[in-house]
Amino acid sequence: MTPDLERAGAEALDRTDPLARYRDRFVVDDPTRLYLDGNSLGRLSIATRSRLAAAVDEWGARLVEGWHDWIELPARVGDRLAAIVVGAQPGEVLVADSVTVNLFKLAHAAADVRSGPIVTDAGNFPTDRYVLDGVARQRGRAYVEAPSIGDAVDAAAGGVLCLSLVDYRSGALLDLAAITAATDALVIWDLSHAAGAVEIDLAPAELAVGCTYKYLNAGPGAPGFLYVRRDLQPRLRSPIQGWFAQRDQFAMGAGFDPVDGIERFAAGTPPILATLALDASLDLFEDAGMGPIAAKGRALTDLAVRLADAWLMPFGFVLGSPRDAERRGSHVALRHPDAWRVTRALIERAGVVPDFRQPDILRLGLAPLTTSFTDVWDGLDRLRGLVERGEHLELPPKPTRVT
Ligand SMILES: Cc1ncc(COP(=O)(O)O)c(C=O)c1O
Repeated sequence: MTPDLERAGAEALDRTDPLARYRDRFVVDDPTRLYLDGNSLGRLSIATRSRLAAAVDEWGARLVEGWHDWIELPARVGDRLAAIVVGAQPGEVLVADSVTVNLFKLAHAAADVRSGPIVTDAGNFPTDRYVLDGVARQRGRAYVEAPSIGDAVDAAAGGVLCLSLVDYRSGALLDLAAITAATDALVIWDLSHAAGAVEIDLAPAELAVGCTYKYLNAGPGAPGFLYVRRDLQPRLRSPIQGWFAQRDQFAMGAGFDPVDGIERFAAGTPPILATLALDASLDLFEDAGMGPIAAKGRALTDLAVRLADAWLMPFGFVLGSPRDAERRGSHVALRHPDAWRVTRALIERAGVVPDFRQPDILRLGLAPLTTSFTDVWDGLDRLRGLVERGEHLELPPKPTRVT
């Protein structure tokens, strides 16, 4: 084994990692369990735990009076998310609803101003495909699931295009500026696997949605966010005419008359506790900076790729992610015909938590703030030992409901 693939190499990377100290700011219930699924549900930070406890007390003490402050929270935390994570301007990001609902809103709004087809790529995340198909159906519009990103861009001329900036399976990172410039379609970017993992500059982008429970550590079911570039806001309308988008909301007026800014894309009562959890989490991202966070993501995934090349390829694994770190998010896909059983065996027998994605992908999510280089080394070492011994073959072959 070359020296840089020995455990000492990973330990040396940890010693010089400028972000290593952030691990101690997260709850680690079981230090022997290697958590490599931060791209599915991020860890709980200690600050978020305290903030949630304080928020619950505030609810108890202030009751309905709390709304005087809470009502502005989705836009206020949206502004922080814009500045710290996604490279947008104040007034362009709103924390609201789920990714699914936000995509529904923006797809309808975009289809109001583009008459062409509604398009995505066949590999896009299921909820994106289902929502876009449904929106097209509701509007009597053509819906296209293109076989590749390039085909999707071509097919979307004059219409609405939705792409994931980081692919949920392969981790492939697209060139947002180049694709946006190459099409006259309105592009809705799904940032779910990108926000908190890679540096994002939304300035050229028109529309985007994303989630906060993965790399942004806001907790299970935490709200999503949506971005609408400021110059487009007056021209776009949400298909959900909810009272939180209404001008002078508490006048309880007769007809729907949406406010001018990003809050015109709000719908109903926002989830305050989860939004406060996100607010606390953003403090850590602000402190660490997305530049260093993304650089560590590239280094962690590089180490995983090198170890997989050296140790796992002889056992039938194939790299399912781009080799070039600049073209990757912060997770690595390893493909294997028995990936489901390997994933379960890792969780149940080796104390390593990755996840499985159909049809044959074991995903290693390497959240930069909470994953060390030795976690990566140990995780892949345990994986190698497990397949060497053939332990996964002792498990039943069928996936469970949550993978
Ligand atoms: C790329 C992508 N888009 C959308 C979603 C769905 O988000 P939600 O369940 O918050 O609507 C996910 C969830 O993992 C995702 O990975």
